[in-house]
Amino acid sequence: MSIARLTEQVLDTERDRVFQYAPIGGYAGDPELRRQLAAHHATEPERIFVTNGSLQALDLVAAHLVNPGDVVYAEAPTYDRAVQIFQRHGARVVGVPLESDGLDTAELARRLESEVPVLLYTIPDFQNPSGVTMNGSKRRELLRLAAAYGFTVLEDTPYRELRYTGTAPASLAELDTSGQVIAIGSLSKVLSPGLRIGYVIGDPALVRRLADRAEGVYLSPAPLSQAIAVRCLAEDLLRSNVERVRQLMAPRLDAAVEAVRAQLGEVLVAVPEGGYYVTVHLPVKTGEATFLAAARDAGVALTRGSAFYPDGTAPPEGTLFLRLPFQAMEPAEFTAGIGRLAALAAW
Ligand SMILES: Cc1ncc(COP(=O)(O)O)c(C=O)c1O
Repeated sequence: MSIARLTEQVLDTERDRVFQYAPIGGYAGDPELRRQLAAHHATEPERIFVTNGSLQALDLVAAHLVNPGDVVYAEAPTYDRAVQIFQRHGARVVGVPLESDGLDTAELARRLESEVPVLLYTIPDFQNPSGVTMNGSKRRELLRLAAAYGFTVLEDTPYRELRYTGTAPASLAELDTSGQVIAIGSLSKVLSPGLRIGYVIGDPALVRRLADRAEGVYLSPAPLSQAIAVRCLAEDLLRSNVERVRQLMAPRLDAAVEAVRAQLGEVLVAVPEGGYYVTVHLPVKTGEATFLAAARDAGVALTRGSAFYPDGTAPPEGTLFLRLPFQAMEPAEFTAGIGRLAALAAW
C-alpha cells in the first residue's frame, strides 16, 4: 500500500486525534512510533525521541551538549549543515581527516593528547558528502578513544540502510558498551523526506531532557506525520521501500563508478557500496570558483566541495573535492555529465 493510501486511512480514522496537539509534558513522540522504531533498531522505546527530521534532532542534541567555546570534532569533509548547527551553539568545529575507509583514527588519537572535544560528530555509513563508510576496526578504535578520553560520539545514520552490496559493519550504537554514543536516525531517505520524521536513540535520561527542551521550542513533532509513519511501519513499507531503492540504485552506483573511472581516471575518494554519493579529488589547474562556473556553463551544476570542509581543512593540494550525487539520475545522464566534467578537467 502507498503512503498516500495510508494517509487517507489516517484521515478517515484518526482525524480527531491527529489535528490536535500531542500530549504536553515529557512527550518523546507517538508511543506506537517509538515502539516500532525501537523494534527496528533492537532497542527499547524509552531510548527513542522523535523529532521533525533528523536535522532538528542534531540541533536539540547540540543545544543539550554544546556550550559556547566547546570544541566539536567532525570528519573533514562533513555535512555542512551539521557544522553550522554546532557553530550556532557556540562550538569551535575542528575537522579530523577522513580516509577512504573512514575517520583517520590515528590522527584523532594524536589530537586527543592535547585537546578533547565535547563530542565527535560522524556519519559512518555512506557519508554525506564523501560516500565513505567507516570500517569495523576504526569504529572500535573510535569507541575506545571516546571511553578513554570521555567524549560523546554523535552517530548520524540517514543512509545506513541504503546498502546495495557487501555487508554492513555494526553501527557505533550497536558496538557501544560504555554509553558514549548518541545515534540519530531519519525516515527521510528510507521512507519520505516530506514526513519530516527523525529521531534520537540515547539513554532515557537524555530523552527526558530533550523532551523538555523540545516542548519549550515547538511543543511536539507533528501528530499527523507521526500517525502516517506508524501506518507505514506497520505495513512494512520501510522494508519494501528500501528494497525498491536498492533495485533502483545498485545499477546507478555501478554506472557512476564506471563512468568516473573511465573518464576521469583513478580519482575516486572511495568506491561506496551504497548511499547517494560518489566523490572525487579531481586534479585541476584552475581554482574552485572558475571550475564550478565552467561546469555550470557546460550544464553540470555542482555543489561547492570546499564548503564541506570545516575551517582550516581542505582537500589534497592541487585537487578539488567534488560530490557527484548519482541517485537522482539515469546512468546515461550521469555518464554524459561526467564526460562534460572530463572535458573541463583536461583544460
Ligand atoms: C548526514 C545528514 N544528516 C541529516 C540530514 C537531514 O535529514 P532529515 O531530512 O532527517 O532532516 C541529511 C540530509 O541530507 C544528511 O545528509
